[in-house]
Amino acid sequence: FSAQEVADIKESWEVPKANLTDSGAAILVHFVTKYPDNLMHFPFKDVPIVDLNKNERFRSHVTKIMKVFDNSVNVLGADEAQITQIWQDLAKSHVKRQIPEKSYLELRDSILTVLSEAAKLTDAQKASWHKMLDHVYAILFQKMSELGA
Ligand code: HEM
Repeated sequence: FSAQEVADIKESWEVPKANLTDSGAAILVHFVTKYPDNLMHFPFKDVPIVDLNKNERFRSHVTKIMKVFDNSVNVLGADEAQITQIWQDLAKSHVKRQIPEKSYLELRDSILTVLSEAAKLTDAQKASWHKMLDHVYAILFQKMSELGA
């Protein structure tokens, strides 16, 4: 990653970072609204979407997802081994859940859509985010396939 790409990502991440759980909740609500098939994997699958925001289990999961991104953005451009570690660990913890790649790509769409709107991403910033997501997803999918997903 170039210094400019790292700066694009870190600067735009300041917006969701200021309120990690609420911005994560917006991403996850977008995700299960646009791609409702994904709800079945979650313990909050029977909670009506309008009530998700106040559901403890939902909010706790949202915070965990956002921490993974926060940790990744923090070390981006500085510690590639750590990025690899974070996303390989995620592959290990998710492989047993048998979630198709399609679901991860749908989540990616929701992340970019909500972030673009909230942080008013420029085209250059969007391109940097795409590059980062391509990179971490490649690590994730590679590890999942090694693990037999
Ligand atoms: C749990 C992150 C994608 C379903 C978790 C946890 C983290 C996490 C940190 C808690 C620790 C663990 O059990 O591993 C992420 C990140 C993702 C991602 C960073 C993508 C970038 C997905 C997708 C689905 C999913 C696409 C399903 C559609 C679940 C479920 C749990 C979980 C069902 C357990 C929830 C609970 O028991 O409350 N995720 N996840 N995850 N994730 Fe993900």
